Amino acid sequence: MSLFYQDFKLGVLGGGQLGRMLIQEAINYNLQVSIIDPDASAPCKSLAHEFTQGKLTDYDTVLDFGRQCNLLTIEIENVNTEALKQLELEGVVVYPQPDIIEMIKDKVSQKKFYRDNDIPTAPFITVENKKDVANASLSLPFVNKLAKEGYDGRGVQVIRSEDDFARAFDAAGLVEEFVDFEKEISVIVARNKQGEIKVFPAVELEFHPEHNLVEYLHAPANISQENNTQAREIAIQIITRLEMVGLLAVEMFITREGKVLVNEIAPRTHNSGHQTIESCTTSQFNQHLRAILGLPLGDTSIITPAIMVNLLGEEGHTGPARYEGLEEVIALKGVYVHLYGKAITKPFRKMGHVTITGNDRESLAEKAKFVKQTLKVKS
Ligand SMILES: Nc1ncnc2c1ncn2[C@@H]1O[C@H](COP(=O)(O)OP(=O)(O)OP(=O)(O)O)[C@@H](O)[C@H]1O
Ligand SMILES: [Mg+2]
Repeated sequence: MSLFYQDFKLGVLGGGQLGRMLIQEAINYNLQVSIIDPDASAPCKSLAHEFTQGKLTDYDTVLDFGRQCNLLTIEIENVNTEALKQLELEGVVVYPQPDIIEMIKDKVSQKKFYRDNDIPTAPFITVENKKDVANASLSLPFVNKLAKEGYDGRGVQVIRSEDDFARAFDAAGLVEEFVDFEKEISVIVARNKQGEIKVFPAVELEFHPEHNLVEYLHAPANISQENNTQAREIAIQIITRLEMVGLLAVEMFITREGKVLVNEIAPRTHNSGHQTIESCTTSQFNQHLRAILGLPLGDTSIITPAIMVNLLGEEGHTGPARYEGLEEVIALKGVYVHLYGKAITKPFRKMGHVTITGNDRESLAEKAKFVKQTLKVKS
């Protein structure tokens, strides 16, 4: 069946903002996208060719949905991979491959993958419960992570002293050395089934000091040429070793000694690639489509430097979303607003993002600060 015919169906597990921006690209290729998401008012709801409300972790739900598609992909890792494996047996193409999703959705198996493949990462010890954390032979401070289902930093905590043992996660996971990093960066790499690989330039992530969400993303990252090359090679090494088809985001630390360590990977489009829409020749969403459809990959060069700001729900506001300062921000040259269409705002919920483009680093940072101070999501 040809990709570009009306009867070709691309299914996406997850209907949030990543799916929504993927649909925007799919429209240009005249592709029909079916979406499944547990939330009846998910951001993709009214944009998908077909929308199914259903649980992504339920075997039968995923199986039934997938059987109606020619090609399946994901926008979230927490999906039923057993059903995806069955669908592969039945002839549905699933990219990224289910066994890779399965490995990545568990932080312990991810870390073992790095260790087994000589990919630089912080030393770690696996734990089953709280008691193991307290007994771990790792010097304090260290970081305690849940194996599964953590996101936006919710399954990650720093254990600074023995007093913190009491609040360690009482579940399977790991403890790893605290990395005294200078910077956090991300590199997005894509690979198609023909084995072609293209890498986006590294970006630098500036996190909110308390809430573990990206506050400012700087593209390109202001790092040494050497670190740039190392980060790029690590990303290529991982996707090659996995023989993965699709897009892979590789989050890394640059330590104070100038070493590059992998923190974690995500086999999908990623928050750290939103700026590619305006600042690169090919966007991450377009690249993901190219990769999973077996098309030639797009050029990843930067057209213009950019800063991306996540538009988060204001603290103290829960309810129907209202946007303050939109017009002032839209009026600025080189500033691009993306709203995700979420009806309800909650503190720190990702409601949209803004990309600020420009060649001068200083005025770029000033504009980004202005956007951050002006644009607010309230209830
Ligand atoms: N070993 C470490 N040493 C120091 N800081 C760390 C370490 N591991 C994680 N962190 C910090 O915690 C943040 C969240 O960790 P991680 O990316 O593993 O969690 P997550 O919840 O899966 O991520 P995401 O926010 O990408 O959904 C990192 O971005 C980093 O700032
Ligand atoms: Mg992370």
